[in-house]
Amino acid sequence: MAFIVKKNIHDKEYYYLNENKRVDGKVRTKTLAYLGKTKKGAEKKAKEIKSGKKDNKMKSEAKAKEKKEEKAIKVGSKIDEITSISSKRGFFFQTANIYGGKAGFFTYGHLGKTLKSNWEELWRKNIVGLDENFYEIQSNSILPEAVFKASGHIENFNDPMTECKKCHFRFRADQFLEDNKIENAESLSIEQMTAVIKEKNLKCPKCKGELSEVRQFNMMFPIHVGFNEEKAYLSPETAQAAYLAFKEEFSATRGKLPLGLAIIDKAYRNEISPRQMFFRLREFSQAELQIFFDKDKINEHPKWNQVQKNKLRIKFSTSKEIQEISCSELNTQHKIPKFYLYYASKVQDFYLKILNVPKDKFRFRELNEIERAFYNKIHFDVEIMLDTLGGFKEVAGVHYRTDHDLSGHSKVSGKNLEVFYDGKKILPHVLELSFGVDRNIWTLLDIFYSVGKEGSMFLFPPALSPITAAVFPIIKGRKFEKISEKVANDLKKEHCILYDKTGSIGRRYARNDEIGTPFCITIDEDSVKKKDVTIRERNTGKQIRVKIEDLEIIMKKLINSEIKFGKAGKPFNF
Ligand code: GAP
Repeated sequence: MAFIVKKNIHDKEYYYLNENKRVDGKVRTKTLAYLGKTKKGAEKKAKEIKSGKKDNKMKSEAKAKEKKEEKAIKVGSKIDEITSISSKRGFFFQTANIYGGKAGFFTYGHLGKTLKSNWEELWRKNIVGLDENFYEIQSNSILPEAVFKASGHIENFNDPMTECKKCHFRFRADQFLEDNKIENAESLSIEQMTAVIKEKNLKCPKCKGELSEVRQFNMMFPIHVGFNEEKAYLSPETAQAAYLAFKEEFSATRGKLPLGLAIIDKAYRNEISPRQMFFRLREFSQAELQIFFDKDKINEHPKWNQVQKNKLRIKFSTSKEIQEISCSELNTQHKIPKFYLYYASKVQDFYLKILNVPKDKFRFRELNEIERAFYNKIHFDVEIMLDTLGGFKEVAGVHYRTDHDLSGHSKVSGKNLEVFYDGKKILPHVLELSFGVDRNIWTLLDIFYSVGKEGSMFLFPPALSPITAAVFPIIKGRKFEKISEKVANDLKKEHCILYDKTGSIGRRYARNDEIGTPFCITIDEDSVKKKDVTIRERNTGKQIRVKIEDLEIIMKKLINSEIKFGKAGKPFNF
């Protein structure tokens, strides 16, 4: 007999038609159909299905629709679920919620901020750490107008915008066209976008009013500094501050090229239509490395041997497929310089080997001449497939900016930015590795979110998890708490540790799984006698027994993935 069930998933109701059947003497429940989100609709649908009224065609049509709806719910509910857990547990919230919030601004809570810091630490270690002549510097987000005249941002840093003539709602024309199923709208000129809007008779999405011609909108935030109100801008990229510091840093280091200057800082863009969670923010963080090099050496790299056989996952602008091509083939067949490929390969390693992004979710996408930023000669974006945003999305880029910026700053400032290197005077060229930190954080939330039998959890790699380990006494009593506190305090010197002595053990595990804590350490009766503890692994629920005196070293190895969990101690309840 079929019956309706309601499931509550993160405060939302979903209805299903289920049936109990006896199989091999046991009662098993099978879901026959998804019935929608309202009780009334579910009852109507269930009645139709039960009475078998529909003919086969209607049934298959309904099934296809249900599948589509279920898929949409999965995507929609994954965002809702991540957002709900994130605000409940302290990953992120909309900024100024008490005033109704503001689109394009988010606040990281205590867990989100630690996740972000952990990502930045891995970036420092693995990207800035690529060469001993790469350094991190810190500069300013407010820079004088002249900087952006020189960089070309005042003239070129625009997004196409259209406005409703009736309600005056303004929005991005290319995104609007893509939402209306116009492919590659980003590569159309503003005149072509205006023509498509007219030809397809597209109207304002809010009030159906007529739309204006598409025009360019400069995305920088202008500000006025001091009594004399000198014009300045909030920087739309961290890169410019590194170019301004180049000559001083070149002489302060050893006058050697390549020289890398990295900055992790805020960037500001007055996005017309902030949306897609952390993907179109108005204030966001970038982690950018500017590598200054001699352009005569663009087709060499001293460590080329390390990467030449590595296969990069690439989607060329002329192809629909992702191809896996070795760096040496990309160099010989596709004429991409070795210097560029060496760093592209290291960026791919960062995503696949350090952040553990599954290979099939990663690709480089080539941007053609119209799509790429005005300062780039070669431009591949790093894109990650995200369920929550329904496709591959840009999170970083590898940009060959030539001498565009240094020559612009030389001209506008009147200062010669050439340096003496390798027996000649040169204006270095720049390869930029540019990462949007917030987009990377959303990527981690999306790809590591998982729902299992025990509930939802984030399967972050240990080095990224906001809490490295939770420590709890299983049994109430001062002697157990004393050992637990000592274990927690000793580990706190190196790691982010959560000490929790309240609630059932199951609840404490679930609370930690939900925020992605990879290991839970428990102290019990045996810990007093044998001076050991149990470590439980989040991903498998398996447990090992480890001597307290060995705990610090074992935790270090587990967090850095230097040892397999099963080999780190004596298996317990495996
Ligand atoms: N310095 C080069 C540069 O800024 P970009 O492609 O404009 O290049 C670099 O930006 C990265 O910054 C992007 O790959 C993306 O991850 C991030 N980013 C850009 N605009 C953003 C926005 N409005 N909100 C969040 N992240 C953004």
